[in-house]
Amino acid sequence: MVQLKQEKQYNRPIQIAEGIFWVGFHELGYDLNCNPYLITTPGGEAAVIDGGSRPDFAVVMTKILQTGQDPDLINFLIYQHYDPDLCGSLPHFVDMCDADNLSVVSHPANNIFLRYYSGPQHFRRFISTHRDGGTLSISDRRLRFIETPYCHTAGSFVTYDEQTKTLFTSDLFGSFTKEWDLYLDLGDDCFTCSNHQHCPKGRTFCPLSGIISFHRTIMPGGKALAHAMGIIKKLDIELLAPQHGSIVRERSRIYALVELLEKLDRVGIDNLC
Ligand SMILES: [Fe+2]
Ligand SMILES: [Fe+2]
Repeated sequence: MVQLKQEKQYNRPIQIAEGIFWVGFHELGYDLNCNPYLITTPGGEAAVIDGGSRPDFAVVMTKILQTGQDPDLINFLIYQHYDPDLCGSLPHFVDMCDADNLSVVSHPANNIFLRYYSGPQHFRRFISTHRDGGTLSISDRRLRFIETPYCHTAGSFVTYDEQTKTLFTSDLFGSFTKEWDLYLDLGDDCFTCSNHQHCPKGRTFCPLSGIISFHRTIMPGGKALAHAMGIIKKLDIELLAPQHGSIVRERSRIYALVELLEKLDRVGIDNLC
């Protein structure tokens, strides 16, 4: 039987920046965890980013309620691509939140597929990230949508919160790891180390190993990944919040990771031909 991670601090929502909460969870023994996020405002309006899978919904919604958020004031469900690990609970959110206020926000190339998660009666809820010039205002908070095509779907994008300089990156910066923790823990010399199998410093696992294997497996090719990193490195980022793996909060680590992934070889189809 799968055992929920029992660490006290991860049984509750965790505020990772002003008004932004991690509402995900991790199952021991699995090498992939999912990180839905709740973005709140002082007036009560809110958005959920990459809300999670169908089986995760009870835990995610419980954590949203624990933040004090009224589900009827969740106005936006943002989906940065269309995989079931982030979209599977879409119909549950629609059922739970106030139908009149709720919009589903994604890139038009994703909306084609996202509609299959809900019935036709909800099609009017789907709005494009292109509306309002690629921005979305939630009360006085402004989000910017930045396209990262083919990382890993045609309509993939990342979302930048101007207030806290948090970048929500969906599958980018994700990781396969059984040694999950909420925040990425890297040493100063990790980025100059090439031995990702056996840590020269004696750590039991290498945090970069899971990130590298994730991108080599999930991303379609190095060209798409380098293109996305070229866009992301121009942003002023204080916090990286991926949909899998761990949050990155030190600026030097963030930009070192961007550089590592920009140059990563053997990504996707590149490893085959
Ligand atoms: Fe995905
Ligand atoms: Fe994912």
